[in-house]
Amino acid sequence: MQLPDEAIAYNYQNLLAPALEDWTPAAEMRQQHFLSPGKLRDLTPRVLQVRSQVATERELRQPPQELLPLDAGFIDLPQKLLDQHKKQGESSTLGRTLKLAERMRAQVDRFVVLGIGGSYMGARALFYALKSAYHNDLLPKDRSGAPRIYFEGNNADNDSLHELFEMLSITCVEPDQREERWGVAVISKSGGTLETAAAYRAIRKEMAEFYGSHAAQLKELVVPITGATGSLRNLCKADGFADEDVLTIPDDVGGRYSVFTPVGLLPAAVMGLDVRALLLGASTMTRRFLDERFENNPVLQYAAVNYLMNIQCQKPIRVLSVWSKKLESLGFWYDQLLAESLGKQGLGPTPITAVGTRDLHSRGQQHQEGARDKVINNIVVKAWTNPPIAISMTERNEDDLNQYNRKNLPEIMHAALAGTNKAYHDVSRPTADIVLPSITEHTIGQLMQMLMLATVVEGRLMGVNPYGQPGVEAYKRNMKEILKKPT
Ligand code: PA5
Repeated sequence: MQLPDEAIAYNYQNLLAPALEDWTPAAEMRQQHFLSPGKLRDLTPRVLQVRSQVATERELRQPPQELLPLDAGFIDLPQKLLDQHKKQGESSTLGRTLKLAERMRAQVDRFVVLGIGGSYMGARALFYALKSAYHNDLLPKDRSGAPRIYFEGNNADNDSLHELFEMLSITCVEPDQREERWGVAVISKSGGTLETAAAYRAIRKEMAEFYGSHAAQLKELVVPITGATGSLRNLCKADGFADEDVLTIPDDVGGRYSVFTPVGLLPAAVMGLDVRALLLGASTMTRRFLDERFENNPVLQYAAVNYLMNIQCQKPIRVLSVWSKKLESLGFWYDQLLAESLGKQGLGPTPITAVGTRDLHSRGQQHQEGARDKVINNIVVKAWTNPPIAISMTERNEDDLNQYNRKNLPEIMHAALAGTNKAYHDVSRPTADIVLPSITEHTIGQLMQMLMLATVVEGRLMGVNPYGQPGVEAYKRNMKEILKKPT
């Protein structure tokens, strides 16, 4: 298959154990902590079989009981959305999403995304990866029409929500001026998540106070995104929302797999991101997953290598070490994806996000010399978006930097990464690299789809259902019971 120039690769050669070495203590460590290429070869037929199983599962209309829940809709959705948009234009899901986003951009300068877990972590990852780190501090004219973005409704944190309201009331005084208006997306598939629902109720009150409770345009400043049924859907009906103004999360797409539904796409479009490029990237990754042989298939490689690292090499801690600060939230999104999908039946790797080089000054010591329970997957960005900042020659050399004259920050980053990988390799600490050609909508689309697909494949290899999160229900049940008790 013809791959675009910006195709993602997974380089894992560094964590393979060398074949046939003379015995030395260091060689023994390598055999113990690196992955035997033979084991990976042996697993490959099984991995290909799982791929066929996952491919078949996405076509099942009435899945057997033992496969439930089965939320495989995310696999083909990116291409479906693009195709449908081409055929049906504005009336398609993507068309309506773009239209509502455009309406919001025209109306407000601050946009609050309410949602928790899978209903916000993807949008947050996109925001921090693809917008300026200082987006919210820029003047409107320098934000190309995109409002400032805030995430709330992801906790029961009184002060955090209060501070949002405080900020809004200080900065937004004149509801007739776009620059002082704010809008909301309320996102909940079930519609019954208490944290999000409580924040939405509170925010509706604030809105009514600011805009006037009968203001005709009040509904235009809220985009509800929810499942086909549930409390939020009912509330929208009662509030008189037109059907086309409520975006639907497909039934067969689970929360943490929903970034390429309106859950992630609406906020992305409000931010001014190229959502078609995101979807194209995701769709390309699905095609690679389904069509490519193992040697050129980052989904299968990542799933197989990391599965064996956990099961065979006793590395239950999976560090996603992102070598760009912009990808930290993407790391948090992956934390949730992995933990909620595979943390079942007493199994599942424990995800951790680290940011290079920043966290070399915090976690680095442990990665180098702590317990040998980790595999480190770096996300390496090959080309930076902005021109390199160089170290220049100066008269004052007390900081001793003239020796690095003409070196720039990308070169320093590269040296740090290569130096870190070597330091870990020298003491048999396994690392692999996910190589991202650059940070764009197209590469981030590929990367997120790759990690979602790999999680499903890994779940199937482990014999764990990667969909559903039965364990999260226990706290919700208890919390609701406690709340119902008279105080
Ligand atoms: O992955 C999941 O399904 C969960 O993390 C949900 O996204 C999260 O619990 C929020 O659920 P809801 O969208 O129903 O409010």
